[in-house]
Amino acid sequence: MTKPTMIAVIGGSGLYEIDGLQDARWVTVDTPWGAPSDQILTGELDGVKMGFLPRHGRGHVHAPSDVPYRANIDALKRLGATDVISVSACGSFRESMAPGDFVIVDQFIDRTFARHKSFFGSGCVAHVSLAHPTCPRLGDACETAARAAGITVHRGGTYLAMEGPQFSTVAESKLYREQWGADVIGMTNMPEAKLAREAELCYASIAMVTDFDSWHPDHGAVDITAILATLQGNSSNGADLVRRLPALLGGERTECPHGCDTALEYAIMTAPE
Ligand code: ADE
Repeated sequence: MTKPTMIAVIGGSGLYEIDGLQDARWVTVDTPWGAPSDQILTGELDGVKMGFLPRHGRGHVHAPSDVPYRANIDALKRLGATDVISVSACGSFRESMAPGDFVIVDQFIDRTFARHKSFFGSGCVAHVSLAHPTCPRLGDACETAARAAGITVHRGGTYLAMEGPQFSTVAESKLYREQWGADVIGMTNMPEAKLAREAELCYASIAMVTDFDSWHPDHGAVDITAILATLQGNSSNGADLVRRLPALLGGERTECPHGCDTALEYAIMTAPE
C-alpha cells in the first residue's frame, strides 16, 4: 500500500526557509504539547508535499533548551509528514570533517538533560528501539542530493547532543572526541530524533560543520562570529540539497523498509482499556 510522501524539513541556524515552494502558506498548528517553534510553511516542490519548520522560530527566538521539540514533531505528524529531514549546525571533532562540510549523522550520544524526551509516560508506557536512530533510506537521498549539489558530504557520524547554550570546555571536547568517539557536536538533534521515532516518522539529520569545537590546538575557542560566517556559505548549500529531495523521494511511498513508521508496533507496554 502506498501513501503520499510529505517531506518535513526542520531548519536550524542557517536555514530559515525553502525557496521555490508552490502554493506556499504558513499554517498554524496546535498540539497537546503546546505551540511548535513557529508556524509551518507548507507547499509543494516537484509535485511532492513539503513542510518547513524553523527550529528556533523566525527571528531565532528559541534557545536549544527551549525548543518545543514535542510540539514540533507532533505538529509535523498532524500535517501528514512522513519523512523528517533535520538540518542543523555542528562543531567537528575530526580533521577530516572541516567547516563547510556536511555530515549525514547516523548515531547520537544524548547528553541533554533539561528537555522533555518522550510522548509517553505514566498512563501509557512505551519503549521504542533507538539502536538505529536515523532512516538509511532518507540518508541515501540526502547523500545523493548533497553529492549532486557538489557539497563535501560524509556519510555516517556520531553526533553528541549537548545541553548548551554555552559551548564545551577543552576538557569536555577532548573527552567526547578521544574517549567517546563522537564525530560532531550540536545542541538540537536530541530529543528530536527520539521523538521522531516515537511518532513513527523517518528521520535523517544533516549536520553542517561550522567549526572545530574547542579541542583543536590550531583553532582556539569556538566563536559565534566565525560560526555565522561559515553558515552564510552553508545555507545556500543546505537549500540546494533540500530542493533536490522531492525528485529523489517521489510523491508516493510504501512502508519504510527499516521499520521507522511501525516503531510502536511492539513498543507499548500499557494494557489497552
Ligand atoms: N553548533 C555549532 N557549532 C557547535 C559547537 N562547537 N558545539 C555545539 N553546538 C554547535
